Amino acid sequence: MKKKTIKVGLLGFGTVGGGTYRMLSTNAHTISYTTGLSIEVTKILVRDLSKKRDVSAPDELFTDNPDDILKNPEIDVVVEVLGGIHPAFDYMEEAIKAGKHVVTANKAVIAKDGPYLTQLAIDNKVILRYEASVGGGIPILNALSTSLQANEFTEVVGIVNGTTNYILTQMAENDMEYADALKQAQAMGFAEADPTGDVEGYDAVNKLSILISTAFGVRVAPEDIPREGITNITKEDMAYAKQFGYTIKLLAHARRYRNTLECSVQPAMVPLGHPLATVKNEFNAIFAKGNAVDDVMLYGKGAGAMPTGSAVVGNLLEIARAYAFGTTDRTIPTAVNDNVNLQFDGEGQNMYYVTLLAEDMTGVLGKIATKFGDAGIAIKSFVQHPSTKQTGRYVPLIYILGETTRDRLNEALEDISGFTFVKEIKSVICVADLDR
Ligand code: NAP
Ligand code: HSE
Repeated sequence: MKKKTIKVGLLGFGTVGGGTYRMLSTNAHTISYTTGLSIEVTKILVRDLSKKRDVSAPDELFTDNPDDILKNPEIDVVVEVLGGIHPAFDYMEEAIKAGKHVVTANKAVIAKDGPYLTQLAIDNKVILRYEASVGGGIPILNALSTSLQANEFTEVVGIVNGTTNYILTQMAENDMEYADALKQAQAMGFAEADPTGDVEGYDAVNKLSILISTAFGVRVAPEDIPREGITNITKEDMAYAKQFGYTIKLLAHARRYRNTLECSVQPAMVPLGHPLATVKNEFNAIFAKGNAVDDVMLYGKGAGAMPTGSAVVGNLLEIARAYAFGTTDRTIPTAVNDNVNLQFDGEGQNMYYVTLLAEDMTGVLGKIATKFGDAGIAIKSFVQHPSTKQTGRYVPLIYILGETTRDRLNEALEDISGFTFVKEIKSVICVADLDR
């Protein structure tokens, strides 16, 4: 049987572009065996032609002119792994309009413009795929939209950012300072070019937005998702968390109550016995709760060249199969939006861990407890630590509080910080309601 060659233009040859290229070369035999077709990278767009690269490819493949790919009639599929919104979005739009299939790892573009690009792909009878945009090598979007699609999902919760999970793991286990752990994550290729996206939760918010549209069929724009990063987490928080039987993870959480959807990205106390507490370093894990299947957890490497390359190449093989079966003229949307009666309702109620520094005098604990009580907030656990050199005449008070809204908690804490005997509110971290 005569094999057809699928010609691919690679936009970007950094961590993911290099991983994709390597994966296509090292697994060429399996790929051709699986699909009966061969996949050939014919052009690679980069910014700097003179850069020394970790993965080698023939010089003649490289270009710094996007038209060599976008206007090249021989190229069937464009793989966008540049990062950022522009020009990545513009190149994808142009490729689709030119009748080329598109595979991307770009969660920023898909979270922002996924519905538009999906419709554009449908209109232009090409395939758009973006498995690598969430969970790196974990096939979560495919699982939600194929094998699990018969379920009505009530919850999706997980660790979806490898960089922050790496940093938090190093802080918890190796007593590392935040800045040193971040440097290591960058050196290992997990962090985005600007790590603010990772550590402030923007990357996770983009991924959660994509997960929400895939699992729940509604769109919540990334900027509407309540978000908090990990930059305020301290080694002390890690130590206190452990004493209460928790570890701290950056959780992306969406849950459905009847016709409302609550979601957030924020650092959260996860019980040490929960499977998510055992997810370490750049690994990601995502739980989905379906009304038929109950809990499903997918676990794997959420970042890095080869895991992400695996997801990109998996999408390429999907397209190769469509060639083999003559079905390249239809994109099957990963999610069908806007036909579900589900109202987005902020982050909902949570339990909270709060630490503050207060003077060690009679009546302090009672006054603080009364403020929480007046706000309708229960104190579930409490520990007072002795003062140290750093805290001086103040003692750390550590509370685990019952369910409340963030607004009500903030009001109570504002009142409490008004007491002259309170030096400062040090930390406020949500306690994950994982209900499992
Ligand atoms: P990266 O290492 O920074 O690589 C980006 C590549 O794109 C580089 O080769 C760069 O060229 C090229 N490039 C960027 N802007 C360009 C422009 N305007 N014109 C031409 N070339 C341009 O990024 P990455 O980590 O591979 O990430 C790529 C995408 O995958 C992002 O959307 C990211 O969110 C996503 N992703 C990354 C990971 C991961 O683990 N890193 C995992 C999942 C998804 P030069 O090499 O010449 O500078
Ligand atoms: N910067 C991202 C992370 C890459 O650390 O998870 C994978 O999307």
